[in-house]
Amino acid sequence: MTDGVYTVKIKDIVKETKNIKTFRLDLDLPALPGQYIMLWVPGYDEKPLSISYPGRDMGVTVLRKGATTARLHDMKRGDILGVRGPFGRAFKITGERLIAVGGGVGMAPIAPLAEKAIEMGREITVIIGAVTKSELLFVDRLERAGAEIIITTDDGTCGMKCFTTHALEKELEKGRYDECFTCGPEIMMYKVLEIAKRHGLPTQVSMERYFKCGIGICGACVMDDGGLRVCKEGPNFRDVEIEKFKDFGKYTRDASGKKVYW
Ligand code: FES
Repeated sequence: MTDGVYTVKIKDIVKETKNIKTFRLDLDLPALPGQYIMLWVPGYDEKPLSISYPGRDMGVTVLRKGATTARLHDMKRGDILGVRGPFGRAFKITGERLIAVGGGVGMAPIAPLAEKAIEMGREITVIIGAVTKSELLFVDRLERAGAEIIITTDDGTCGMKCFTTHALEKELEKGRYDECFTCGPEIMMYKVLEIAKRHGLPTQVSMERYFKCGIGICGACVMDDGGLRVCKEGPNFRDVEIEKFKDFGKYTRDASGKKVYW
């Protein structure tokens, strides 16, 4: 797949939750589940964003946090954005009975993964977690696609009143899965990996780090000690790679490279 650079119009905007919007762009961008683009908001910054809708009218689903995403959230249909990509190593589906855990906006790459798995004839259960019912993402979309859905909310307003990891633990006791995927808050993914490992399940984790170049040159996104770059060798890593990262689940780095502990 060729990496490209595009100037595109916003074709449609969907308000998913109070602070999350999906932007469909006037761009046909084939991509694999788990890949990302660098989205440039004119006058602001460029941000790495998981592709939530690959292909025609490519889409990204964005949480409002910080000045660039706040500006993006204020933009309208017809406004112009810059796109580079698609980039990164996609999720690789090898199992037959899959389980995926998505927390909050972490559902952005999990939704196309589930759709792809179903298209490939695999069974997939998706644990969708959020703080409260109104923050849940892509429940209808994945029900329509034919995924089995388990919902968890911290406050019990929908589905099970627990964290996604509790639901995962319960589900894995049934012993019917052979591969696991996760994207969401790093502390959640850390626990997902721990639980999946206990159950002998291979896992792929979608990692997030501060990006500058997005093309493997600047070193801003290197995981500690593994030497692997999230923008290039990631963002999706296998459990055997993740276990070598001493920063996973402990700290990230800010724009200046300073450690920020979770
Ligand atoms: S963002 Fe520059 S090497 Fe990854």
